[in-house]
Amino acid sequence: MNKLERKFPEGFLWGGAVAANQCEGAYNEDGKGLSTQDVAPKGVVGPITEEPTEDNMKLIGIDFYHRYKEDIKLFAEMGFKVFRTSIAWSRIYPNGDDAQPNEKGLQFYDDLFDECLKYGIEPLVTISHYETPLALSKNYDGWVNRKLVGFYENYVRTIFNRYKDKVKYWLTFNEINSVIHAPFLSGGIYTPKEKLSKQDLYQAIHHEFVASALAVKIGHELMPKAKIGCMILGTPTYPLTPNPDDIIATMQMERNIFFFSDVHARGYYPNYMKRFFKENDIQIKFEPGDEEILKNTVDFISFSYYVSICETADTEKKVTGKGNLFGGVPNPYLKESEWGWQIDPKGLRFILNQFYDRYQKPLFIVENGLGAVDELIEDEKGNKTVNDDYRIKYLNDHLVQAAEAIEDGVEVMGYTTWGCIDLVSASTAELKKRYGFIYVDRNDDGTGTLERYKKKSFYWYKNVIETNGENLE
Ligand code: BG6
Repeated sequence: MNKLERKFPEGFLWGGAVAANQCEGAYNEDGKGLSTQDVAPKGVVGPITEEPTEDNMKLIGIDFYHRYKEDIKLFAEMGFKVFRTSIAWSRIYPNGDDAQPNEKGLQFYDDLFDECLKYGIEPLVTISHYETPLALSKNYDGWVNRKLVGFYENYVRTIFNRYKDKVKYWLTFNEINSVIHAPFLSGGIYTPKEKLSKQDLYQAIHHEFVASALAVKIGHELMPKAKIGCMILGTPTYPLTPNPDDIIATMQMERNIFFFSDVHARGYYPNYMKRFFKENDIQIKFEPGDEEILKNTVDFISFSYYVSICETADTEKKVTGKGNLFGGVPNPYLKESEWGWQIDPKGLRFILNQFYDRYQKPLFIVENGLGAVDELIEDEKGNKTVNDDYRIKYLNDHLVQAAEAIEDGVEVMGYTTWGCIDLVSASTAELKKRYGFIYVDRNDDGTGTLERYKKKSFYWYKNVIETNGENLE
């Protein structure tokens, strides 16, 4: 194979990503309230429990809350320029609607960001990553209720004021469009999905849009140098065949993504949604001032990328495959991961170009990676490790396509691999679905020492960063 001739820009933000609820653990320590994740032991695929249950791997996670210094040291050893994590809202406001923030929660993130900055690692912070305070979910039905906008605004003001000198890069909501597929996980909506009306779902989305734009507005006022982005679940959709009906079906399907990026990047609702609302008997209630607030557009667009899907209008061919929170029609040209997610590096180049053609705003790939079963072995020196060539290949191939997109003229700010250290999966709440460069000794039956071990990919990624991607193949 030839070495990559394409170049990543100087100052490219290489790094890794996690979310508080999937790694921190310490679910009830130092004044933290419960979040929606603490009662979802099987992720989106399982039931919601009344109380946290022992089989919920997220309650301990990988114990990042107590071990973050060791972990950030390892990230620094790989040469990370940026580390994406989220703030657990319920550590700061245990019930979401409390009058005062929890000082111990605030202090934890002060210490965490200081530790990153000590190594020259920029924190990239997701304000809300699938961890709505449970009380907001139960008592208000999550984002269906307009009051959430005020609670979120309060939370955002608190963390912006507190961390304004430490955090430059912010994301308002993780995978904001995922609320369509997973209303509880994504939007804290307690009403079961099958009972949730489209009216309530799209009203909840409107509330999130207003909250997100408010965060951009407040952020720009308090932190003139900050960059505030949206975060989209990026799943490119291909027509299954050239049949014009499939093309139209694909166009409709893509709007599950573009509706969200359009509002964030342009500052108003796209016209095509008027037809959708009319045909589905949805009336979005705009409060006075909402239109103005929405005009606070994002500085950049970030997205996750794992899979692409196909779409067809042919009901006989419309089988649903597996994917990130939702499945599409499987693509006959692609292979899949052990979890049935189809692997498509070129889809990354495609969606980067789609976003850039549409908005000409900088893009940030904030999640990408391969969830796989890893085998811990001993190398010739007796060190425990994992020979994860499959992960190296996956990441290499995606990065090559990111470089192709850069060559196409797309502005890409950075790349953070998902789960740079093994953590608990969001969709299935498993530990055996591993993404990391660092193996964490913890298993789904709760056993394990929580020790960390460097995988082969650890050294590979260190080299990628050191050479600014020049050794990709
Ligand atoms: C994204 C989420 O949907 O995909 C992450 O932002 C999640 O929270 C990641 O972990 C991978 O999905 P999973 O289900 O394999 O953990």
